Amino acid sequence: MNRLIKPTIITALILVGFSCNTTKSTSKNNHPTVVESPFDAKIDSLMSLMTLKEKIGQTVMYSGDLTVTGPVVSNNNQKYVKEGAVGAMLNVFSAKATRDLQKLAVEETRLGIPLLFGYDVIHGYKTIFPINLGLAASWDLEDIKKGSRIAAQEASAVGIHWTFAPMVDISRDPRWGRISESAGEDVYLASKIGKAYVQGFQGDDLSKHNTILACAKHFVGYGAAQAGRDYHTVNMGQDELWNVYFPPFKATVDAGVETFMTAFNELNGIPATGNKYIFRDVLRDEWDFKGFVVTDYFATNEMVVHGYAKDRKEATKLAIEAGVDQDMMSNANHLYLEELVNEGKVDVELINDACRRILLTKYKLGLFDDPYRYSDEQREKEVIYEPEFLEAARKSAAMASVLLKNDNKSLPLDKNQTIALIGPLAKDKENIIGNWAAEGDRNGKAISVHQGVQEYLGDSKIIFAKGCEIEGKDESGFSEAINAAKRADKVVMVLGEDYDMSGEAASRTNIKLPGSQTQLIKAIREAVPNKKIILVLMNGRPLDLSEEDILADAILETWFPGTSGGYGVADVLFGAYNPSAKLPVTFPRNVGQVPIYYNMKRAGRPMNPNNPKEDYTSNYLDSPNSPLYAFGHGLSYTTYQYSDITLSSKTIGFSDTLSVSATITNMGDYDGHEIVQLYIHDKVGSLTRPVKELKGFRKVFIKKGESKTVNFDLTVEDLKYYTADMSFNVEPGEFQIAIKGSSDFDFKHTFTLE
Ligand code: BGC
Repeated sequence: MNRLIKPTIITALILVGFSCNTTKSTSKNNHPTVVESPFDAKIDSLMSLMTLKEKIGQTVMYSGDLTVTGPVVSNNNQKYVKEGAVGAMLNVFSAKATRDLQKLAVEETRLGIPLLFGYDVIHGYKTIFPINLGLAASWDLEDIKKGSRIAAQEASAVGIHWTFAPMVDISRDPRWGRISESAGEDVYLASKIGKAYVQGFQGDDLSKHNTILACAKHFVGYGAAQAGRDYHTVNMGQDELWNVYFPPFKATVDAGVETFMTAFNELNGIPATGNKYIFRDVLRDEWDFKGFVVTDYFATNEMVVHGYAKDRKEATKLAIEAGVDQDMMSNANHLYLEELVNEGKVDVELINDACRRILLTKYKLGLFDDPYRYSDEQREKEVIYEPEFLEAARKSAAMASVLLKNDNKSLPLDKNQTIALIGPLAKDKENIIGNWAAEGDRNGKAISVHQGVQEYLGDSKIIFAKGCEIEGKDESGFSEAINAAKRADKVVMVLGEDYDMSGEAASRTNIKLPGSQTQLIKAIREAVPNKKIILVLMNGRPLDLSEEDILADAILETWFPGTSGGYGVADVLFGAYNPSAKLPVTFPRNVGQVPIYYNMKRAGRPMNPNNPKEDYTSNYLDSPNSPLYAFGHGLSYTTYQYSDITLSSKTIGFSDTLSVSATITNMGDYDGHEIVQLYIHDKVGSLTRPVKELKGFRKVFIKKGESKTVNFDLTVEDLKYYTADMSFNVEPGEFQIAIKGSSDFDFKHTFTLE
């Protein structure tokens, strides 16, 4: 499948009319909000010169022709730029290309307003880091910040001002391909990670030439697409919306994110792109967001297909009224906004507001001082693939790799032993950088696992066999692989998905290893029943590994580990980095358990742990309720023993701080980093509360034989949630609390809030 240009049925837009109600949203909010900034005087004076057409121009974004995710509406980019009819471009990159186009905007338009260049810099620009789900598995906020700082440094050098990241959609459905771009299932973790990305991309000062605008996307609910099918319907109540799907977005607003992107999905009957409630009532009025909102690709037009607007003109009106400032690729604002204003159907103040917000980001970036400051060919040459960046990517790959299983200390590998290195991804340099890999090189630059292992073993101790392809039923390579396994001391199999099996428009109903890969493990297990088989996985989603869990002695989940991935993974395999990553998402036993996540609600007839199959309780006839690997799970080459926690008090008042600590002892032979997790459970609420909620975590380094005491301070702020009356509040009562190394535990301690 070619990621670049996907066929789409959207081109067959259903433009036939149907009568529809004019009240489109539960919200009556139609008013623009005032944004004040130090650039006000400059913006006022510029806007006083602008015609309505020119203001509308700022609200339009077109795509260059290279990397598109939908139909290209117009290839007349240069003409439109010269007319002042475009405010931003996406998919135009390289210092030269951006400089050339910027020149047209600056030198050949009446007012010389510079363009914004946006691009999907998702987990790196050239130096590609692990996919976002992998980065999330590191739980290392400093590392995520560093990686996005590096991405911004590379991207800004080629003329990019703006990345369409981070995606902060809570993702609890492994069928959904875009789970790979997310931080996983948990509200607290995803919120912290969203903030780290924003800080990394935007840095501390947007006017610096190496910081770029971030974009929180996709507002909102995209991760809850029914049945995990991309773009599909989303229906959710206020509890889930406010307590699960909104918080990571709110965290990015608090971190100062400059832009938001709409979601493709409808939310409770109203497409996100036309949804006043989420953009005006919540984002602007309640959260006081000062930046601007861009549609997702073609999303204004898609409101017609959704059956929410009778034609593109009505969709245009709905989007601007909803608080959407810029139109990515629908060519709708360009065609209809002026007419809508002239007919008195759209308030011109809405356009002034949108234009002002967009101009403000251009001022903040310093583009009015020097529109070419990002398009720097010299910097482009110097900064791309800096050795220091590649080294950082190697560390991130090691820190993202989750050791799911390690029976009988099968890992780490011994440098003196011979390894059979088997599998379609062992020498891969194309898939290893994963999906949405911007300008990452798939033709040789990335380091394969084979190269990483070579660094430790040299050539003579590696016996390579591909075994099979990622997809397809061909088993003709099995015998060579079996032969390799027979000649080696240990077997390392590198298996997984093709990079294009996750990401946008890549939903699966079957989340097992594709093709004949599981058959290959079976064949090798049979041929060498007593040899250690280590499974190294590359994939963009939680897989159903129930068979592999039985067949393999050890499993290392590396996601798609990026440009330096092979080195980072080998560092873990040989113990140079003692694995510390923990799952940011639950791995089910089978697809029938989906959606499955640790912070679920409790049923009125919960499963009885002492009699899981008890009749008339919430269980399955044919599967346990528990997942294969729980959220927060991840092994190390050492083991950590957690002492019981101590609480500063059993009862706290509303203005008190509860101090909670546990001592963690490294019991094994390796120094290591442990990710210590704090969970609570609010036992009774005006809305029922999840059975467990992560409320804190810390990555601590503990030397072998040593102990560390880890302390968390909890205040009522940490216990608040959107209660039955939708106020953000805390309710008195009993809470359970624990400090653990994964979400798989039973609470033993409680405290009371009085
Ligand atoms: C995706 C967005 C992306 C945009 C621009 C869309 O198809 O949903 O996440 O930013 O394309 O490439």
